[in-house]
Amino acid sequence: MRRVRARIADLEVEFTDREVAVRQVEELAERGTWVVHVIYGPEGCGKTAFLRQSSAILEDHGYHVVYVDPLAERLGEVLQYTSSLRGVVKDVLKLFPEPYSRIVDVAINVAGKAMRSLSRPKIAVLMDDIFQAVGVDKAEQYVKALLNLIEWPPADYDKIVVLVASSEGVTRERVGRHRWATFRIMWNMPRGGFAQLYGLLPGERPPIDEVWRWTGGNPKALGELYVAGWRVEDVLNGIVRAKGLRSLAASLTAGEEGVLREAVEDPDTIFRRLREPEARSLEKKLVELNLIVEIWDRDGHGWIDVPPPERDPELGIGRYYAWQTPLHREAVRRTLGAVGR
Ligand SMILES: Nc1ncnc2c1ncn2[C@@H]1O[C@H](COP(=O)(O)OP(=O)(O)OP(=O)(O)O)[C@@H](O)[C@H]1O
Ligand SMILES: [Mg+2]
Repeated sequence: MRRVRARIADLEVEFTDREVAVRQVEELAERGTWVVHVIYGPEGCGKTAFLRQSSAILEDHGYHVVYVDPLAERLGEVLQYTSSLRGVVKDVLKLFPEPYSRIVDVAINVAGKAMRSLSRPKIAVLMDDIFQAVGVDKAEQYVKALLNLIEWPPADYDKIVVLVASSEGVTRERVGRHRWATFRIMWNMPRGGFAQLYGLLPGERPPIDEVWRWTGGNPKALGELYVAGWRVEDVLNGIVRAKGLRSLAASLTAGEEGVLREAVEDPDTIFRRLREPEARSLEKKLVELNLIVEIWDRDGHGWIDVPPPERDPELGIGRYYAWQTPLHREAVRRTLGAVGR
C-alpha cells in the first residue's frame, strides 16, 4: 500500500501506523459503505490524515474519488478528485458560478454525474469537516443528501463509499439521532504508532513517556509541543485561550463547577451524575467545546482504528467519557484553580 504524505508541524512525514484503520478501509472498499459513515473524534487525532490515506486506498481499489476539504489551507486542496473525474468535474463546475461557497453540493453533483457518465463506477465521496463549513445546523440536511445519493442514485453504480469526518461534538447529537448515518469514533493514536511519529522529530526531546502522558497519543498535540519547544505551559495557555476556558469557568453555576472539579479527576463522574441537571448542562458545554467525548463500547464496530483502553485515569479516559487529551484536562484544571471562587 502506498502511504500518503502527512505533516507534523513543519516536517513532512509519511502516514504512520493506523494499521487497523487501513484494513477497515480496505474492507469498506470491497463492500462499499451503503450508508454514510460519519467519523468523529478528538480535534487533531488524525481524521484528515486518515481521510487522505483512505482516498489513496480507494483509488487503488478502482474507485473514482471526490474529496472535499472546505477548510483546507490552500484553495487547490478544497476539491480534489481522481484524474478519471476530470471531465465530470469540469462539467459540474460550469453549473456553479461560485463553487467554493457550495463545495459540498459540487461534490454531490460530481458523484451523481459520474454515475451517469461512467459505466457502473465505484464511487467514493470523502468529506472533511464539512459541518464546520456548512454549519452544524445543516449537518443533517447534508448527510441526508448524501444518503439520497446512495439510495436514489441517478444511474446505476457498482459500489459507493461515503466517509464524512467531523470534530464537532454536536454533530453526533444532531446526525446521530437519525438512522441515516453510521457513527464511528476515531481515537488518538495508539502508543506504538505515536512513538514512531515522536521518533521522527529532530532535536532534544523529553522522554516519550512524558510526551505520551501529555498528549495521550494526539498527533496534533505532538506537533504543537514540538513547535513550542516542548514548553507545556505554552500549549496549555493556547488551549485556555482558544477554548475560552476562563469565561467557561466564570459562567458555571456552583453545581456545574462541582461536577467539573470531580470530572477533572474522573470523567465518568459526568455519567454517574447525569440525573442531575447541572451534570447534564455541564456535559453539553464540554462536548460543544470539544473538551470531552462520550465513549461507547470498545467492541471494535463503532470505531475507526483501535478504541482507547477501557479506562486510563492517567490519560483522563473513563469508561463512558474521556477528555480529548490530557492537555485539555489540565487546561481545565488550571483554569478552575485560577478562577476559584
Ligand atoms: N497517521 C498519521 N501519520 C502521520 N501524521 C499524522 C497521522 N495522523 C495525523 N497526523 C498529523 O497530525 C496532525 C493532526 O492530524 P489531522 O489534521 O489529520 O487531525 P484531525 O483529526 O483532522 O484534526 P482536526 O480535528 O483539527 O480537523 C496533522 O499534522 C497530521 O498530518
Ligand atoms: Mg481535520
